Amino acid sequence: MKEKLKKIVADAIKEVNSALKEADVLNVKSKFLGKKSELSLLMKDIKNMSVEDKKIYGPLFNKIKTDLELKINEKLEEIQSKIDIHLDETLPTDEEIGSLHPISIVAKDVTDILKRMGFTIVNGPEMEKEYYNFEALNIPKTHPARDMQDTYWLSNNDLLRTHTSPNQVRAMQKFNAPLRICAPGRCFRNEDMDHSHETTFFQLEGMVIDKNVSISNLIYVMEGMLKEIFKSDVKVRLRPGFFPFVEPGFELDCSCLICGGKGCSTCKNSGWIELCPCGMIHPNVLKESNIDPEIYSGFAFGLGLTRLAMMKYKISDIRILNSGDLRKLSEFNIE
Ligand code: PHE
Repeated sequence: MKEKLKKIVADAIKEVNSALKEADVLNVKSKFLGKKSELSLLMKDIKNMSVEDKKIYGPLFNKIKTDLELKINEKLEEIQSKIDIHLDETLPTDEEIGSLHPISIVAKDVTDILKRMGFTIVNGPEMEKEYYNFEALNIPKTHPARDMQDTYWLSNNDLLRTHTSPNQVRAMQKFNAPLRICAPGRCFRNEDMDHSHETTFFQLEGMVIDKNVSISNLIYVMEGMLKEIFKSDVKVRLRPGFFPFVEPGFELDCSCLICGGKGCSTCKNSGWIELCPCGMIHPNVLKESNIDPEIYSGFAFGLGLTRLAMMKYKISDIRILNSGDLRKLSEFNIE
């Protein structure tokens, strides 16, 4: 009996010592002192013992029990005091507080604005099917417009999406008309990199389809969105621009934010900054996704989020954004 008790005590102490968390200690407690523990079962046998044995084992059991309890409580206190130290917010810390990446910030700003205008945020894959990136957008295999988007092809004939426009097709085929969606995301093109070209950049696709949607609606939404983004009374103008999936297609310029339209080096003295390609959705694109162009019409735009972040934070070299170089990224005054 004495051997058995010695072993129980030795095991219990070993397990208490190796416990790391409060929960571990509580498990040890129930294992060694609980109702179904070996010790408790042995204690029940006392009533069958001789009077002499009762005199020896009664106090012995009690001592073992109180000693173990003490040991367990000490260990609990030790662990809890360590937790307190972890939570002491007054202690000095070397850790720097980070902030969101400039692109995440502008993406959130713009999607917040669009959400308020009734747009749903959607998402699509960065590894995309040729069909969604080109074919369904009225860019068949032999179309020269494919040359405008130098593409990274994958070995299985998929590709890295060259723009966020495949989300137009995915959204139409999922929700049909009417719809109002926006899709921020990363895009890839096989570019030679310099201070204004990157192989990886971010766009935000916007698309509205409904009955009687016209160019006036496009201008109204774009102007409203840009006024909120720049928190100033920007003007917009449309110039013709070609994209196979819109007709008519436009390049949208906004009045220069630096000089207010008077002309400066940023806007190359024109008073305007090229900001966002857009246009009325081509009937072929609607048809391909089972939307009747006789009933529905719509517009789409592709806002360059990378461009926007560079304008907002006055970042002159696009390569900084994907560099992961915190020394450079933290130079921008991001709250
Ligand atoms: N996806 C086009 C591009 O990246 C931009 C665009 C989007 C143009 C929507 C028109 C409408 O070149």
